[in-house]
Amino acid sequence: MKKKQKMQKKAEIKSALKINFSTDWKYDPAPESADHIKLEKKYDLFINGKFVAPKKGKYFETINPAKETKLAEVAEGTEEDIDTAVRAARSAYEKIWSKISARERGKYLFRIARIMQEKARELAVIESLDSGKPIRESKTVDIPLAAAHFFYNAGWADKLDYAFPGRKAHSIGVAGQIIPWNFPLLMAAWKIAPALAAGNTVVLKPAETTPLTALKLAEIFQQADLPPGVVNIVTGAGATGAALTRHPDIDKIAFTGSTDIGKLIMKSLVGTNKKYTLELGGKSANIIFEDAALDQAVEGIINGIFFNQGHVCCAGSRLYVQESIAKNLIRKLKDRMETLIVGDPLDKNTDIGAINSKAQLEKIQSYLTIGIEEGAQRFQPACDLPKSGYWCRPTLFTDVAQSHRIAQEEIFGPVLSVQTFRTVEEVIEKANNTPYGLAGGVWTDKGAKVFSITSQIRAGVLWANTYNKFDPTAPFGGYKESGMGREGGVHGLYPYVELAS
Ligand code: NAI
Ligand code: MG
Repeated sequence: MKKKQKMQKKAEIKSALKINFSTDWKYDPAPESADHIKLEKKYDLFINGKFVAPKKGKYFETINPAKETKLAEVAEGTEEDIDTAVRAARSAYEKIWSKISARERGKYLFRIARIMQEKARELAVIESLDSGKPIRESKTVDIPLAAAHFFYNAGWADKLDYAFPGRKAHSIGVAGQIIPWNFPLLMAAWKIAPALAAGNTVVLKPAETTPLTALKLAEIFQQADLPPGVVNIVTGAGATGAALTRHPDIDKIAFTGSTDIGKLIMKSLVGTNKKYTLELGGKSANIIFEDAALDQAVEGIINGIFFNQGHVCCAGSRLYVQESIAKNLIRKLKDRMETLIVGDPLDKNTDIGAINSKAQLEKIQSYLTIGIEEGAQRFQPACDLPKSGYWCRPTLFTDVAQSHRIAQEEIFGPVLSVQTFRTVEEVIEKANNTPYGLAGGVWTDKGAKVFSITSQIRAGVLWANTYNKFDPTAPFGGYKESGMGREGGVHGLYPYVELAS
């Protein structure tokens, strides 16, 4: 064959192999049916085992962020409602929950876990509707893990003496719990299950944009015959949360949310006897060494930052790539990003759902501009976005400096900043150069390197050759501005008990 013909043939093969995944072929829609779910038009507060109207009679809307349509009206709890709920919790603590045997407590928790499993499909659809997260995630992560937290803690209820060998574990009383919108049911389960297992009662304040699965959980408590007042759920926004933290008859506060509100809560608790745990923000480093399995690392990076639209406190939002493989890895990453499907949260093919709220979308968008103003290069795949709703394309920033705001501040969206490094010492210093210390990931084929590096990174949770894996038996929590205390595992029981020798 002549040289020219050969070149032409080569070019033809090359262009035949070049598939543009975003435009050349698409999956057919595979929507999960929402026919089977039961949602009320209006939800009251769940206090003392019953749904009761808020004293001031105010309600707010929770919407579906993928369509900007109203899902239900939800009661706005005030200081008086919080007081009624705390009284109910105190009375249930003194008269019932602290009196029944530990085995009985365990039985209730097992029962709740089983009903959650029975209702898993309905809970998953409601979670996706209310929060915007892909149904694939609510079905395979949120709901099964929420049930798993009840199962796990149910097992501890009558074994607390083994959790704290040589010590006697006593319950502490009434816990006030405030949760965010990124994992609504999972956060509720994560907080309620250990509190109940250890013999405490609860007043829970769900996030204002995602209250529905917590209210469905209240229905499950009724179905499980959980004694009235053991868990009370008071919906509302920040003011309702603040009223709960201020209430004098609360023994322990458990908060998950932004570092700013965490600091406010911490200040408000000074001089009180309330125990507290705070699970706050993060800017976690995902570190890829040249000896890592690159294709697996690409999946791990994608999962680390684009999972749940990046609405994850431990998201791997800072990527550090060893210089020798940076070009290759970034190319692979961009190719993979081109295949991500952004859209209908109820579609089983969707990888990235809707941003949870307009305010959060605006916050993320402001960082998309800040990144460019700071001199970084922005890459986004050319995927279609639905017309209504809150959407953000997965975004990658290269040419990022450690001092850039996009490398320092929590964006809480599908935005990844990439930097390179040459030596182990350099990457450890960069990874630790943040006010946060929640999580991180290390990718290498050398076990010894994993242990040596993870022991030098100041973060509460570190993954090796994987990312965003959760388990009820594993403690979770951060250093520095990422919070204090641990949730999950035996460690997660500790904040809910008083230990005597
Ligand atoms: P936020 O911290 O205001 O909300 C979390 C929870 O705290 C909600 O239930 C809220 O109603 C409640 N709350 C608000 N003000 C309160 C107060 N003064 N006292 C007691 N409770 C109060 O977070 P927001 O505004 O929804 O999100 C803002 C940013 O926070 C996000 O962009 C993200 O960076 C970060 N965030 C981090 C989370 C995490 O898991 N670490 C979860 C949610 C948000
Ligand atoms: Mg909503």
